[in-house]
Amino acid sequence: MVDTTAKKGMAVPLTAFAVGAVVALLVGVFGRVHEPTLDGTTTLGYPTVLAMKTVVSTVIGVLVVVQLVGALWMYGKLGVRAPSWVGTAHRATGALAVLLSLFVAYHCLWSLGLEVGTLPNGEPVSTRSFVHGLVGCAVVGAIVVKITAVRARRAPGWFLPVAGGLLFSLLVVAVLTSVVWYIGDRGWPSRAG
Ligand code: HEM
Repeated sequence: MVDTTAKKGMAVPLTAFAVGAVVALLVGVFGRVHEPTLDGTTTLGYPTVLAMKTVVSTVIGVLVVVQLVGALWMYGKLGVRAPSWVGTAHRATGALAVLLSLFVAYHCLWSLGLEVGTLPNGEPVSTRSFVHGLVGCAVVGAIVVKITAVRARRAPGWFLPVAGGLLFSLLVVAVLTSVVWYIGDRGWPSRAG
């Protein structure tokens, strides 16, 4: 007899990973074909869009660490039983991290795009910028996978932690390849400029 339960179980994660990969690819293609512009962006009162993204992405970095701690707590990996409010808090901070990530990703895509090879001014694109752009596109795909994993009723138990771990890792790299460089090069952005 064929084990249909196992097959049904794998259908959701495999579909989610396939759709996530297509979404990441489409975001990358958009980043290549779209003409970068500052129209339709906001600085939220900071001197530049880059400065604004650095501040918002620092918040994302903190939220991402909070998400990791919350997830480990709920999975019983911290050695202390998680109180019931941890689940609610994890959902709220997770939703905020996703919204802020999409907000920053939009600003990167719209005002800079996916930089490959050389910039319009002829300068070579740094490895950091290239890796950051690719990982940024993957973040959008991983958000699709993570949201599916949270909603999926008929998926194997590994799907949610794997989807969460993937999104966590990609966000860490996206933040490290942008915020850390910006602050190291220009210091913490001030509203005064
Ligand atoms: C949608 C895909 C994304 C693309 C194509 C992209 C692309 C870029 C590019 C080309 C830059 C300029 C790099 C340079 O200085 O030469 C940049 C800057 C930045 N990005 Fe992204 N990004 C994406 C997603 C994200 C995400 C998800 C985050 C945060 C989690 C983020 C945070 C930042 C920050 C803080 C900066 C300013 C500091 C810097 O210049 O590196 N980006 N992005």
